[in-house]
Amino acid sequence: MLDTARSRIWEAMQIGPQWLLRDTEDPLLDEMTKKRLAPALVRETPAQAPAAARPFAPASASPASRVAPPRTPVTHRAPRAGAATHPTAGAARAADNVIPIVSMPEATAAAAKTADWETLRGLADACRVCPMGSTRQHMVFAEEGREARFVIVGEAPGGEEDFQGIPFVGKSGQLLTAMLNVLGIERRKDVTILNVLKCRPPGNRNPKPDEVAACSVFLRRQLEILQPDVLFLMGRFAVTSLLNLPPDSSIGRTRGTIYEVRVGAKMVPAVTTYHPSYLLRRPEEKAKAWEDLVLLKQTLARAGITFEKKDA
Ligand code: URA
Repeated sequence: MLDTARSRIWEAMQIGPQWLLRDTEDPLLDEMTKKRLAPALVRETPAQAPAAARPFAPASASPASRVAPPRTPVTHRAPRAGAATHPTAGAARAADNVIPIVSMPEATAAAAKTADWETLRGLADACRVCPMGSTRQHMVFAEEGREARFVIVGEAPGGEEDFQGIPFVGKSGQLLTAMLNVLGIERRKDVTILNVLKCRPPGNRNPKPDEVAACSVFLRRQLEILQPDVLFLMGRFAVTSLLNLPPDSSIGRTRGTIYEVRVGAKMVPAVTTYHPSYLLRRPEEKAKAWEDLVLLKQTLARAGITFEKKDA
């Protein structure tokens, strides 16, 4: 948990933003401000919440798990038939109306289907099917968690990721790390992080539907190899491509629901949320992302995945 001393150190080092559990008092608030804000800290008690909505809130739960649940979690299969077998079918269908400029050569797609992790990395590194293959500095394949049964999918590398060859190391990566730390999740250990696109779109523009469809050959195989037990989909491109939704779907509408995504032979529960870079632009939406983290924590626990919170 964040205590005042640790929180001050974080602030002094400009490590942030600092994420607090909703029922935790901000350790940096002075006494006057605490008094002024007191009514805002009043929350729904577990007893008032509907039973189905609070699987994580038994009366004796530790403070870390006594969090208000988000909207009642509902398990949904991916909305349309076909989602399960072809995660990017939605993006591909949306591309029907545009002249495809990018498509994965059949030989590469076939090789990817049976590739092991390192072979797949080599195929992605050699890939030049779209111009990004030539404009990038590094192909950004994954940040692997040593013991990970949990996978996060983001959008595409930005400038810092392109420079380092590692996903989520820029500003949005710092926010993601802070979010994960609040749940006790350690990067490079507890979670593997992937992107929909493996190369940086020039100027950080949005991925195009045909690029998403082409690169999905790599993402799909990565998931098949990793066989995760829980997925966390961040941002429009991860959500729409893996849930087979139209590319302009609103993430807001997908939030609060547990989906199931087919990965090889199994259906994997998936929680959706806003992309961290959106949260940096719209900090007022962080409360919703916090609800999504709570749902993620519940989903992980149902899959038997728990994390120890480290205080140091
Ligand atoms: N945004 C993403 O979606 N992925 C990254 O790796 C970095 C920023």
